[in-house]
Amino acid sequence: MSRTIAVLGGTGAEGFGLALRLAQARETVIIGSRDAKRAQDAADKIKQRAGANAKISGMENAVACAVADLIVLTVPFEGHATLLKQLKTAFRPGSIVVDATVPLASSVGGRATRTLGVWQGSAAQETAELLPSGVFVVAAFQNVGAEILNGEGPVECDVIVCSDDVEASKTVRELAAKIPGVRAIDGGKLENARILEQITALLIGLNIRHKGHSGIRITGLPPAAYTGR
Ligand SMILES: NC(=O)c1ccc[n+]([C@@H]2O[C@H](COP(=O)([O-])OP(=O)(O)OC[C@H]3O[C@@H](n4cnc5c(N)ncnc54)[C@H](OP(=O)(O)O)[C@@H]3O)[C@@H](O)[C@H]2O)c1
Repeated sequence: MSRTIAVLGGTGAEGFGLALRLAQARETVIIGSRDAKRAQDAADKIKQRAGANAKISGMENAVACAVADLIVLTVPFEGHATLLKQLKTAFRPGSIVVDATVPLASSVGGRATRTLGVWQGSAAQETAELLPSGVFVVAAFQNVGAEILNGEGPVECDVIVCSDDVEASKTVRELAAKIPGVRAIDGGKLENARILEQITALLIGLNIRHKGHSGIRITGLPPAAYTGR
């Protein structure tokens, strides 16, 4: 399938790791940033790791958004709503927005082991409220840490994908499953993003307590649930 994926905030740890993995999976990826030069520098670093044939470039966020079919949001919660409002007219109808944002309390000076209450229920639901109609919102990747994504080995984590649009959810599950080690699981409606976002705070606490890089695996489902389809 020919498509372009923009990773907004792709200069940061999480977005860089996702962009790297997607470029390694032969997807066409654009790093988005508030600064085009910073985006290009990050894209160059990914090319060094993913190989000269990697289809990766860097652009300012709005430019990246306007040419992408699928947009991944990896910005800190404190910048999330403002960025979406700025970019509102840049999203193309029919595009898919994958939100990996977690409303950590550290966004307002609190602890990274706690989440903030978001009026809409979750950062992903806030995204759905702020985006124009005709753009499909999917919550995913909140529980895959940057350290794991930026490492060399397979990403031994399950990615639970939530959306109110069945086709958009399927598209994102198939994409996530292209990352070695990832099993993508249909997590139901977008409202379940609230739970995914809270799990991230728990994982951060586990990482601090046990000095590691934790992820999640779901057991006990029929094999078909893990295929990403
Ligand atoms: N780090 C993880 O392990 C992890 C795991 C799961 C989910 N997440 C979630 O993914 C998101 C990004 O995490 P991160 O650790 O990669 O964060 P980060 O490195 O602090 O920020 C990512 C990028 O966001 C942009 N940014 C920063 N402040 C911004 C603002 N106020 N407005 C617009 N853009 C801004 C920056 O890019 P430019 O300056 O180039 O624009 C920055 O490089 C967060 O919501 C986090 O909760 C992170």
